[in-house]
Amino acid sequence: MQIFYASRDGQSRKIATHIAGRLAARGLSATPTDLGSAPPTAADLARAPLVVAVMSIRYGKHLPEGLRFIETFRALENPPPLVLASVNLTARKPGKDTAEGNVYLRKLIARNALSPVLATAFAGRLDYPRYGLFDKTMIRFIMLVTGGPTDPASVVEYTQWDRVDAFAGQIAEVLEAKTAATVKG
Ligand SMILES: Cc1cc2nc3c(=O)[nH]c(=O)nc-3n(C[C@H](O)[C@H](O)[C@H](O)COP(=O)(O)O)c2cc1C
Repeated sequence: MQIFYASRDGQSRKIATHIAGRLAARGLSATPTDLGSAPPTAADLARAPLVVAVMSIRYGKHLPEGLRFIETFRALENPPPLVLASVNLTARKPGKDTAEGNVYLRKLIARNALSPVLATAFAGRLDYPRYGLFDKTMIRFIMLVTGGPTDPASVVEYTQWDRVDAFAGQIAEVLEAKTAATVKG
C-alpha cells in the first residue's frame, strides 16, 4: 500500500511517515510517496488495495500536486477505498478537525464528489522563522484575526500525534477487513 503526501514545509510528510510507521508495526507495509516528485498514474491507483493521501493547505487551497492526485483518482472507473487527511492550521481549533468541520476538507470532498472511507484534518505546524517576508506577514495577519501567536519568532507544532495514531489504527482496521474479505473470496 502507498501513502501519498503533498507537503511544502514537511509536516504532511512527517504525518504520512508516522502513519506508515504505525502500519508497519502492525505488519502492514506502506511506503510514503511524495505526490510532488512521484505522482501515481491511474493504473497505479487502480491496483492499490487502499489509497491514503495526506495533503497540506496554502492560502485556502490544497497543494497543486494534491489536487492533481484527486483528478487522477476521481477518473478511475473502479476506485479503491480512499483515505484523506488535510493538514492546515485551521484544524488547531476544536471542531475544525473533522471532514464536516474543516472547511478545506469539506469543500474538497464536495467539489470532487468523493466518498472517502476515512477523512480527517490534522493541525499542522507554524514556523515563522522559516517563512519569507510575504508569507510571514500574511500568516501573522491570519493568526491575529484567528487568535493565534503573532510573535515572528514562534514555532509551534500543533499536530496531535495521538490523533494521528488513532487514525493510523482506523486505516489498519479498514485494510485488515479488506484483506480478510479477499481471503474469504
Ligand atoms: C504560505 C502559507 C499559507 C498557508 N495558508 C493556510 C491557510 O490558508 N489555512 C490554514 O488553515 N493554514 C494555512 N497554512 C498553514 C499550513 O497548512 C501548515 O503550516 C501546514 O503544517 C503545512 O504543511 P506542510 O509542512 O506539509 O506543507 C499556511 C502556511 C503557509 C506557510
